[in-house]
Amino acid sequence: MEVISSVNPTWLRDAAVILSGVSLTYYLRPRGSKKRLPLPPSPKGLPILGNALNMPLENVAQGYAKWGEELGSDIISATALGKVVIILNSIETGLDLLDKRSNIYSSRFQSTMAGEMMGFDYPFAMLPYDERWKERRRLFVQHFRPSDMSIIYPQAREFAQRFLVELSQAPEHFHDIARGAKDLAYMSEKFRSAPFEEALSKFGTAEGRPSFVSVALGSVDDSNEEAAAHQRQLIKDTAAMFYMAGTDTISGSMLSWTWDMLKNPDIQAKVHAELDEVLKGRMPDFEDLDDLPYLMATIIGDRSIVACCADRFVVHCVPHLNMEDDVYGEYFIPKDSIVISNLWAMLRNEDDYPNATTYSPSRFLTLDGKLNPEIRDPFTIAIGFGRRSCPGAHIGRAMFWLSLASLATLFEWTEPLGEDGKPIDQPRDYEKGLLYQPKPFKCNFKLRSAEAQALFANMEA
Ligand code: HEM
Repeated sequence: MEVISSVNPTWLRDAAVILSGVSLTYYLRPRGSKKRLPLPPSPKGLPILGNALNMPLENVAQGYAKWGEELGSDIISATALGKVVIILNSIETGLDLLDKRSNIYSSRFQSTMAGEMMGFDYPFAMLPYDERWKERRRLFVQHFRPSDMSIIYPQAREFAQRFLVELSQAPEHFHDIARGAKDLAYMSEKFRSAPFEEALSKFGTAEGRPSFVSVALGSVDDSNEEAAAHQRQLIKDTAAMFYMAGTDTISGSMLSWTWDMLKNPDIQAKVHAELDEVLKGRMPDFEDLDDLPYLMATIIGDRSIVACCADRFVVHCVPHLNMEDDVYGEYFIPKDSIVISNLWAMLRNEDDYPNATTYSPSRFLTLDGKLNPEIRDPFTIAIGFGRRSCPGAHIGRAMFWLSLASLATLFEWTEPLGEDGKPIDQPRDYEKGLLYQPKPFKCNFKLRSAEAQALFANMEA
């Protein structure tokens, strides 16, 4: 998901220079019986500024992981802007604090600037652990249960079809198409049934199509106008979360996977072979999910999908905030610490994932080719922790799974050749900024066979 930065390190550094001192003393003041316990290990900082000037500004996740290695601890701390920042570099610390102690680690840091100046105070991903957040999250979860995909699957099919048709029309614009740049609002509009007001005006008429908005509006009780207006506002805010949280996780995942298939033609060939064997000349659908374990392994094994999501959460996104003083092992964690789960480091831990940096889908499979339940699915970590864990990842996963399965059913793709007849040299790179996405890369798409051509013609009709 993508929301405005809550702890942008540059901002932290600049602001710390101005605001150091008083608040730092306040926040680090030991309290009560925990006063003798130290904060988790911390890199050396300056007397008043703390670590404000040495916070990593680029490759933040890697920087935090390095601090952890140097300090020999998977929980570390830093101070800046009068705030304590706690960094969790292992799955275990994430589960211990953010999951098991979710009752106190589930708030969010409030950036007044983001909320007031940029008008971003409504996305519930950013809200503190209060009634507004609870109402919105409840509404979201109630309508998008993983056990009921009846709103999602039709949208996912439409999304995949539209993606393939656009791709076939302009394969050279693959990057933009995957990012939905041509019509950035497309997906959220789909979920919202075009702007909320439009859905509202069509609600109850023959024109109204099932969507989150239309279904949720159906349960608004109009007998009390004030309560109904409040409900409608909730629905509107919750629908808006789709656009903010969903679009670039999905497109980033699609781009990353396509890149991996491009760079690993042998793996792409195995994906094709599995699809051919299972589908026998038809398009994939959700009923095929369990019969395509190799495809799934290529997706969950794609470090870059995870990196793409994870780096965003480390750098730009929504760390947790603890609402009470706490003690973890021999460390004190003061109330209002900013707690960052370094998903990037967590998903590279060698205990769970030996040779974690190698792209090896087969590591997720048993010898007889099924998904191995003993290997932790990286997505269960990539979605975050506890009461703030991602409520929409199953939606994202369904959207990009079907799109990628359909893409590989119809197309094969290779790296263009340079003048010397060899594949061009294009290193992997990511856009840095609010949209953490793979940078554009070149690839040649081709319909795989006469059968694929026929399937595609059928789909276009
Ligand atoms: C499939 C790829 C996705 C991944 C890996 C992912 C990951 C995450 C993570 C790590 C968080 C923060 C969790 C935490 O604070 O502990 C999050 C929050 C959130 N995500 Fe996702 N997400 C994905 C897709 C989506 C989609 C498609 C939607 C909406 C349709 C969505 C909606 C949200 C919302 C609303 C939150 C805020 C939850 C809260 O603060 O209560 N996500 N996501």
